Amino acid sequence: MVTEKKVRVAIVGLGFGAEFIPIYQAHPNAELVAICRRDKAELNVCGDKFGIEKRFTDFDELLKDPDIDAVHINSPIPDHGPQTLKALKAGKHVACTVPMATSKEQIQEIVALQRAVGKVYMMMETVVYSREYLFAKDLYDRGVLGRIQFLRGSHQQDMDGWPNYWPGLPPMWYATHCVSPCLAVLSDPATGNAALAESVVCHGSGRIREDLIPKYNSPYAIETATFKIVGSDVVAEVTRSLFDTARQYRESFDVTASNVSFEWQQVEGEDPVLHMRGLPESQIPRRVKVPDFAGRLPEPIRKFTGAIHDATHLSFLQGGGHGGSHPHLAHNFLMAVLGAQPAFPDAPTSANWTLVGICAHESATKGGDRVAIPAY
Ligand SMILES: NC(=O)c1ccc[n+]([C@@H]2O[C@H](COP(=O)([O-])OP(=O)(O)OC[C@H]3O[C@@H](n4cnc5c(N)ncnc54)[C@H](O)[C@@H]3O)[C@@H](O)[C@H]2O)c1
Repeated sequence: MVTEKKVRVAIVGLGFGAEFIPIYQAHPNAELVAICRRDKAELNVCGDKFGIEKRFTDFDELLKDPDIDAVHINSPIPDHGPQTLKALKAGKHVACTVPMATSKEQIQEIVALQRAVGKVYMMMETVVYSREYLFAKDLYDRGVLGRIQFLRGSHQQDMDGWPNYWPGLPPMWYATHCVSPCLAVLSDPATGNAALAESVVCHGSGRIREDLIPKYNSPYAIETATFKIVGSDVVAEVTRSLFDTARQYRESFDVTASNVSFEWQQVEGEDPVLHMRGLPESQIPRRVKVPDFAGRLPEPIRKFTGAIHDATHLSFLQGGGHGGSHPHLAHNFLMAVLGAQPAFPDAPTSANWTLVGICAHESATKGGDRVAIPAY
């Protein structure tokens, strides 16, 4: 899109959130006007480092500033829902890191409010802009994979030692990284036509240590779910773990299809595998180098798909900010605010992706009963 218009963005939460500052600063259609976090000393360190003058320790004060068009929320998980609602009520466009919220009620309220106020809402799901996902999606859209027969997502991460809202969190309350690619691959982001999940069956497996259980009353080490997709015969399976499970960090996504199947790497540093039907058995699997999709971005932010991040942050280990997704996310959000394309995922789609996990945990607590996913 060729326009000189700039969206005036504020970033809230400066742990993970700080990684987006240089991207907005470099984007031709953005102006990073303000930052917000509660700790004043740390706020000033960040403001000085990036040369940002407007600094807020109070989110409510930030929302009163008429010079801010859009907020990008990267606060702790329990704040996502309440801060999103406040920001939409204040007339701001909202980008929010995952998950959208942690209760059905909050999610329903966000979708209704977003419709009422007409501002953009986008959940900043990294996986659906990672180069591995974009590669699989491109192969599918070009007809290389053939008919999709099954989808599988997995997100395993050891959250011991992470901030206080993590210990004991039901694994499926943070499931968007494995749910979203399964639904996004069947969607059309350009038109906003999104595949949605309809119902889910989930089992809880194993047990985390006793001191972690009471906060959320969730004992499961692993939650594993299958879900049905509206208007499709394809079923997706997703697996999550957060505590007391030996596994290197894994965010993975597999597409099993009729001609060519895609499997994300199993161990960090490996390349993904394509399985090609019709070849001699030993030639069916082939490791592939995933291309970079930086060419889809405005030139000044293309460099941010590379490994540029602070080595103290986990995303560095994941290679270029979650598969190079961060500049794609910022760009998509800005283009949605400017009306050039739909937000992907928009509010109803973000709701569905998040609700799969919330309903999956509900299913696990009911011994694996099927739970219908509400449509808002
Ligand atoms: N791949 C991904 O999509 C991905 C990766 C990492 C983190 N995240 C998400 O980003 C969020 C932040 O993660 P993190 O690791 O940076 O957490 P963190 O706890 O280290 O940082 C949270 C930040 O939010 C600020 N904050 C807390 N409460 C606030 C409030 N009321 N108002 C304004 N600022 C407030 C804190 O000062 C801090 O800067 C989490 O929700 C996490 O799920 C997503």
